[in-house]
Amino acid sequence: MSHSVLFVCLGNICRSPLAEAALREECTNSGLNVIIDSAGTGDWHVGQSPDKRAQAVAAKNGVDIGHLRGRQVTASDFHDFDHVIAMDNQNLRDLMAKRPANAVATLSLLFDHIAGRAGEDVADPYYGDEDGFDQTWAEVTEAARNLRKLLEIG
Ligand code: 4NP
Repeated sequence: MSHSVLFVCLGNICRSPLAEAALREECTNSGLNVIIDSAGTGDWHVGQSPDKRAQAVAAKNGVDIGHLRGRQVTASDFHDFDHVIAMDNQNLRDLMAKRPANAVATLSLLFDHIAGRAGEDVADPYYGDEDGFDQTWAEVTEAARNLRKLLEIG
């Protein structure tokens, strides 16, 4: 059984590319075949590579994300992916507004996949300093580990 997961944030240059990279790493390491992508609710960074600080924190943790390019979420994503996972509650509201009535994808928050943190936002590191990106990496890595386990049994 195959699975597909789309991570969504605002710009698709900080949080969701890191979540994409973390889950891909988890699944590759455990031999799990999952289609993984990311997108933004906004269109400002379409076609752009991830934020330099996101690239740096990924590289520091052994993952190259320099080839990823920003794209905006589309209505067809709700048919093309099994699971659409938002980084924060604003992303979730924007996705609910965009979701077609006959959508098949499940919709959740990243932190819904970490025990005791359901409903919380992944803080946006874009306007902060590099420490924020270390925190983002730690959060998406923990969630990715849990998601991989769920995908394995599901
Ligand atoms: P992301 O961070 O949603 O984690 O990719 C942001 C990136 C860009 C902007 C906001 C958040 N922006 O306003 O351009």
